[in-house]
Amino acid sequence: MVTERDAPDLGESEHRLFAERRRSRPVWPQSLAPGTGDGVTLYRFEDCARVLRDPQTFSSRGYEQGVDLVMGRTILSMDDPEHKSHRDLVAPAFHQRTLTAWTGDVIGAVCEDLIDRFQLSGRAELVGDFCNEFPIRVTASMLGLPPDDHAQFQRWSMELIGMAGDLETGFAASGALRDYFAGIVSDRRRSPRRDVISDLVTAEIDGQHLSDEAIYSFLRLLLPAGVETTSRAIPTLMLRLLTHPDHLRAVVADRTLVPGAIEESLRLDVPVVYISRLAARDAEIAGVPVPHGAFVTLCLASANRDERRWTEPDRFDIHRPFQQHLTFAAGPHMCLGQHLARMEITVALNALLDRLPGLRLDPDAAASKLVHHSGGSMPALDSLPVLFDT
Ligand code: HEM
Repeated sequence: MVTERDAPDLGESEHRLFAERRRSRPVWPQSLAPGTGDGVTLYRFEDCARVLRDPQTFSSRGYEQGVDLVMGRTILSMDDPEHKSHRDLVAPAFHQRTLTAWTGDVIGAVCEDLIDRFQLSGRAELVGDFCNEFPIRVTASMLGLPPDDHAQFQRWSMELIGMAGDLETGFAASGALRDYFAGIVSDRRRSPRRDVISDLVTAEIDGQHLSDEAIYSFLRLLLPAGVETTSRAIPTLMLRLLTHPDHLRAVVADRTLVPGAIEESLRLDVPVVYISRLAARDAEIAGVPVPHGAFVTLCLASANRDERRWTEPDRFDIHRPFQQHLTFAAGPHMCLGQHLARMEITVALNALLDRLPGLRLDPDAAASKLVHHSGGSMPALDSLPVLFDT
């Protein structure tokens, strides 16, 4: 049995550095988020939360020179009042109430289908066989894309998400997705159905509608924002449980522990390590002056392990009382898809535990370091080989 002692390191050396900065230099004199310019990086929970809840001083417009260049203009880079009116139009499609309708026939069905492919073999590589495909297929189904298009949609999505590694292919995928969505959007304008694209084309508040370009940008944003994040969160949750057999046994026996396990894993292993804001006027954070025009990077991975807020913050403890973390940020831009993400992770975890009894890390694979990491600013699991009883 592989236990916590020999579990792969999910960035503990980075976390040691973050802890040191929280202690000695919580407002670091450089902006460390990729693509930002001069500024500061914040490591403590309170400082990050304060910035997120003060959008008048700390604007989101910095993303105009980053994400927007690829996706088109998105809500991520808007400030109020534009942000509020745009978000109010797209938000109803992602309300918890609306999403409940998708749980069984879409999210559950995708899950069952993926698990069917490997269940009889007694072994799987959970990242490749399940986690990478699951959120893309859920997204394609919720958008109402024809099943015959799913494979192509998945290819473009992967190319767009992998943009940092191959800019040219990423831009080509962004253009291809725009052209593809144009056909679906015009179809849904003629005859709306029960899907998210229909919700977006029919959304109306005080006579305001979303333009076609706004819809294409929003749909493209869902790929890095919704698909990549969720496909990173599920394997880290599984790894945490598989390397804490007592917690795993408890969750298998008592599913009321599932939400606590999910929140704890989201707190410890954030899929989005850094986000950023732009100082819209001269400001001060924890006594450090931050001039107008400076970038402010928030290290969410560090904020979520702040010892001022959590005792033994590095410990995975599914019984910990819930404290708001910053995995989904806070304030007006707090993740629009957080309910969907939690729902997807819940359905996936329950299905994997129900259908793969005796789930455990493959000891040979772990020993030969098949469980390893790749990724950007923090390690991400790129393989998770497991065994189970058939
Ligand atoms: C575990 C999974 C997820 C994580 C960790 C995550 C994290 C985040 C974070 C940190 C932000 C704030 C960014 C900022 O303000 O700079 C954000 C915003 C956003 N997320 Fe998520 N997200 C996840 C899943 C999803 C899903 C499934 C969707 C799909 C609907 C989604 C859609 C969005 C959108 C549209 C925004 C922009 C909201 C706005 O600017 O008002 N996210 N997310």
